[in-house]
Amino acid sequence: MSKTKPEPATAGIESKQTTVGSVFVSNYPPYSTWNDDAVLDVHQALGEQPHPDASLGLYLHIPFCRKRCKFCYFRVYTDKNSSEIDTYLNALAKEVELYSKQPAILGRPLRFVYFGGGTPSYISVNHLTALVERIKKVMPWDAAEEVAFECEPGTLTQKKLVAIKGIGVTRLSLGVENLNDEILAENGRAHLSKEVYRIDPWIKELAFDQVNIDLISGMIGETWESWRDTVQKTIELDPDSITVYQLELPFNTVYSKDILGGDALPVADWKLKREWHQYAFEQFEQAGYAQSSAYTVLKKDKPCKFVYRDAVWQGSDMIGTGVASFSHLSGIHFQNAPSWGDYLSNLEEDKLPVYRALKPTDAEKLTREMILQLKLGKINPSYFKAKFDADILTHYSDAYQKLQNDGMLRVIADSDEIQLTQHGLLQVDSLLPNFYAPEYQNTRYT
Ligand SMILES: C[S@@+](CC[C@H](N)C(=O)[O-])C[C@H]1O[C@@H](n2cnc3c(N)ncnc32)[C@H](O)[C@@H]1O
Ligand code: SF4
Repeated sequence: MSKTKPEPATAGIESKQTTVGSVFVSNYPPYSTWNDDAVLDVHQALGEQPHPDASLGLYLHIPFCRKRCKFCYFRVYTDKNSSEIDTYLNALAKEVELYSKQPAILGRPLRFVYFGGGTPSYISVNHLTALVERIKKVMPWDAAEEVAFECEPGTLTQKKLVAIKGIGVTRLSLGVENLNDEILAENGRAHLSKEVYRIDPWIKELAFDQVNIDLISGMIGETWESWRDTVQKTIELDPDSITVYQLELPFNTVYSKDILGGDALPVADWKLKREWHQYAFEQFEQAGYAQSSAYTVLKKDKPCKFVYRDAVWQGSDMIGTGVASFSHLSGIHFQNAPSWGDYLSNLEEDKLPVYRALKPTDAEKLTREMILQLKLGKINPSYFKAKFDADILTHYSDAYQKLQNDGMLRVIADSDEIQLTQHGLLQVDSLLPNFYAPEYQNTRYT
């Protein structure tokens, strides 16, 4: 797998420029090492009883969008008509029905549900309610701690928001990204800022338990002036939680292809994106928010959790349904068929559309949990001792020493804590390859 040209995602090499190939780290070992041999392990695990303490989540992938944003790396379709969407949603419901009968899933309560995309809010009220009615018959979520739902502001109507609340959504997440219309248009977003203000009163009236706003630092066309304005306007919108991502350019975005094709795009470098990120978090803190991870702030006077994130980062079981979705069950990671045709044809034949998998070793499980939880800003070595019987400070002593010397983190031995510094937290994804096993360094990530 190793290549002569460094892979920005796994090489652990700090690049100043936003080069094509960077990623947001969401799993380990890298996806490129998952394979079809391990799919047999998935089917075996599905036939066995689950671990008695494991909680279960359900992820539903709705891969449709009005337009493809030029920075987006998700699997999305912008050309599907209502009948194709109908076919897809029927396949999705069938997939959940097939899972619900497997011994590893049968009768287990759902702790969390996540409607992700793509844009779950793109589908019609009729499609959404029909899908949910069918799924809830076999996997009900009335007792779930969290039901999260991603929305693109321009796809929401008051009627749709009522339906979303009606299916039990507790966490509504809005892809606002920026509040400057020129920047939104330049980056290929389908919505403009007025659509955010149109839906805001309806959302407040419906009193969801938690409303999150996503922003991106470093969209094309951003300046200090426009970013300050977006940060201020976001505070005025008064969400419960704000997530700030730094613009990544994985290989498959429109912008990445433009750059690889020779276009000179004015992309902010990492230093500037981090300065913008830090500025936003300082402003949010002054406005009454506290940092809960490298990317998220929460209102101090309204403590809320993000069950999905924490469960996934702690290795919970999660069935990921839909085209190209990711799952984790009984210690095995797997992914669904990534093409529309393969996904649908498997389900037409009543087969689960599992396409590639990986059964990590105990050492890999430890690394996975530790690097993902480092994104929270602090971890406790005792957690890993209790769960994996491993002393992480000894196991990863070289990486911890290096990152401590570089001012990225502090090991607070007396209080059982490893804390990232602010400097480290702002670039945490680029630090994580330091913990990768040698065979995964410099491999392609996806
Ligand atoms: C599935 S989308 C959210 C829902 C909806 N599709 C939307 O965009 O409004 C998830 C989030 O990923 C973030 N995102 C997408 N592409 C990104 C990139 N290249 N770099 C950083 N963040 C990105 C955006 O903040 C986006 O809100
Ligand atoms: S960022 Fe959201 S709306 Fe834009 S293409 Fe990606 S999934 Fe669709």
